[in-house]
Amino acid sequence: MKNSYLDVNPWKIIEKGFNPNRVKSSESIFSLGNGAMGQRANFEEYYSGNTFQGSYIGGVYYPDKTRVGWWKNGYPDYFAKVLNAPSWIGIHLEINKVPLDLNTCKQVNGFFRELDMKTGIYTRFFEAQITDDCRIEVMAKRFLSMDEGALGVIHYSVKALKGACEISIDSFVDGHITNQDSNWDDPFWEHQQKTVSNEFIALHSKTLKTEFEVCTFAQTNLINRNEIISSNFKTKEKAWRLSQCSSISLAEGEKLTLLKFGGYINGMNHSPSQFNTKALAVINHAKEKGFDKLIADQKASWAKVWKQSDIVIKGDDKAQQAIRFNIFQLNQTYNGKDARLNIGPKGFTGEKYGGSTYWDTEAYCLPFYMATKNQDIARNLLKYRYEHLDKAIENAKKLGFYNGAALYPMVTMNGEECHNEWEITFEEIHRNGAIAFAIFNYERFTGDTSYIPEMGLEVLIAIARFWTQRVHYSDFRKAYVILGVTGPNEYENNVNNNWYTNYLAKWCLNYAKEQVLHVAVTNPKRFEEVKSKINWKEDEANEWEAIAALMYFPKHPTEDLFLQQDGFLDKELFPTTKISKQERPINQYWSWDRILRSPYIKQADVLQGFYFFEDQFDIKSLERHFDFYEPFTVHESSLSPCVHSILASKLDKMELAYSFYLQTSRLDLDDYNNEVEEGLHITSMAGTWMSIVEGFGGVRVKNNELHINPKLPEQWKEYSFKINFRGTLIKVQKTKGGTKIKHDNIELNVFCEDKII
Ligand code: BGC
Repeated sequence: MKNSYLDVNPWKIIEKGFNPNRVKSSESIFSLGNGAMGQRANFEEYYSGNTFQGSYIGGVYYPDKTRVGWWKNGYPDYFAKVLNAPSWIGIHLEINKVPLDLNTCKQVNGFFRELDMKTGIYTRFFEAQITDDCRIEVMAKRFLSMDEGALGVIHYSVKALKGACEISIDSFVDGHITNQDSNWDDPFWEHQQKTVSNEFIALHSKTLKTEFEVCTFAQTNLINRNEIISSNFKTKEKAWRLSQCSSISLAEGEKLTLLKFGGYINGMNHSPSQFNTKALAVINHAKEKGFDKLIADQKASWAKVWKQSDIVIKGDDKAQQAIRFNIFQLNQTYNGKDARLNIGPKGFTGEKYGGSTYWDTEAYCLPFYMATKNQDIARNLLKYRYEHLDKAIENAKKLGFYNGAALYPMVTMNGEECHNEWEITFEEIHRNGAIAFAIFNYERFTGDTSYIPEMGLEVLIAIARFWTQRVHYSDFRKAYVILGVTGPNEYENNVNNNWYTNYLAKWCLNYAKEQVLHVAVTNPKRFEEVKSKINWKEDEANEWEAIAALMYFPKHPTEDLFLQQDGFLDKELFPTTKISKQERPINQYWSWDRILRSPYIKQADVLQGFYFFEDQFDIKSLERHFDFYEPFTVHESSLSPCVHSILASKLDKMELAYSFYLQTSRLDLDDYNNEVEEGLHITSMAGTWMSIVEGFGGVRVKNNELHINPKLPEQWKEYSFKINFRGTLIKVQKTKGGTKIKHDNIELNVFCEDKII
């Protein structure tokens, strides 16, 4: 286990002491978000050291022109990039004419920062020696309002600890921003208009090409004893950097406090002609409430979140802190209020993966949102894909598919494919199956039978049509095969008959047929509508069934095992224990060629299928496959350990389940892969949650009944978690003595394979 520089605390992330080498990592870890916007934990004051400045707005992206070595037909023209947006947090100070800069100031003492996950409030404190006879103390609190998506709040105090201070304040909005992740260093924004008044500053900007319009606003107030005493600042502008400025003298012992409101009015929700009016309304509303009430509201909003989703672990503070960190970050990233938004693998904490949507959402994130939120939130995640169905059909058409077959993109912002590595873009087609599986999973968990007739059926049909055209009949095998694919294991490409992909295809075909028949009977009117919309042929579903029945699956010649793909046994099958520690992770030390020829599995592949479809295999079969594939799995995707943890729990391999749990849950806090400075692994955080609820907790829904089969890792005294099952909040508490289940007064079918105490 790696050790972190952060304190272990059940509700807080705490860093003590200032270390410039940790600034970028902490900027990721202490990130803030509220579903509508997010920002890395950059300092408000100027910092000349190593930093990664990042502010992001949900749904605002730029189609960055594709860059590849050799163009392949079918590649998309662009890779969507989440955009580093103008920043509103800057408060630069000069103290006795010396800029406050933690990188250059004479001494920094008592540096401390804390992210309180219970309330979403980020606090930072330090003392800085500015000159020999001047020392100050700074206390900054910041949060992004969970109630008002457009609003962020900074409460920033400076105290003259030693000597008098002449402080000049420059509180600004800055439009001079660039993306770290950019293919050609093109400009992404065009600024259109500025408002610089004593009252507030606002920058109206537009993204190039996509033409998203955004207003970045800020207002700075001087406060005394919680009363705003002045909002009347001087103004300054330097190109697209707009400032509110003031100068203040502090005698030794005196303190100055600024209250800054800032954020974004997003053209996706408001007409640009209303930007300033809306920004002022947000500011005035915040001002009327005042800082204390804003804090109280923020605490109340987070209390609601925790009431539905907290997991309590007794006897293991590291595990406790980790799961809360994961739940906290997921809630900062997506709140389901807007079905146009989704969950990027790095959320609002970095730029890798372009902030776009991957199969991660359906395969990993959906279960978290289904069980910890109200049903409509998870439904919005499915609706997102329904809204993109036309684009998925267009995407498949570009690749030569026809008749309404849909291939959902591997990576997308607006439904168009924007990934451009052939082995992923064209070959990682299993993502289509995860989208169909999510529809099944949603209905199974929520019992909401309206989604499929309203939207899901069209998606399922279009996906079934894709598989029908992507398979072909092999005369040699007398079965349907799927050639040239990449499974979830991206460490082998262009393989034939990846078991997971074939299995998913078969399942999709059967499930689509089942749903067609079901809707035809239960909702004939809607079925007629769908049929006329999609050029339905009466024998289509029979063709799906016929293909599914004859799907080919590679098998081990002598053992009772499915093979990951046709050529798996041709590899030199050395377990991962044969790789020296210095060569891990192999993706950083080995050539790609060597990786491709190796037996090493980046992430759960066959086992991902056993996870999705566990009821279709007996426990012995699961054990055989787990024991066969786990020794080859290097878990170099953050999405991998959680699946292995869930399966290990099911197999009663609790030590293993626990060590996978720690690996997934503390991936960022302990920086397992030495890359946390790039941002957090948001989508895999949902996998962490699954490791507890589905893994240790054994939660399943079968035939409309909730099944719970909790197991306790030895390292824990007890744990409890909550799930919102069909509108009823259920608390499951597992102790060494047994299991306690609490719920509201509604009678429920809960099957617990344990003693109820
Ligand atoms: C994984 C993919 C995943 C992507 C984004 C890759 O490393 O192999 O399965 O979708 O990261 O999280």
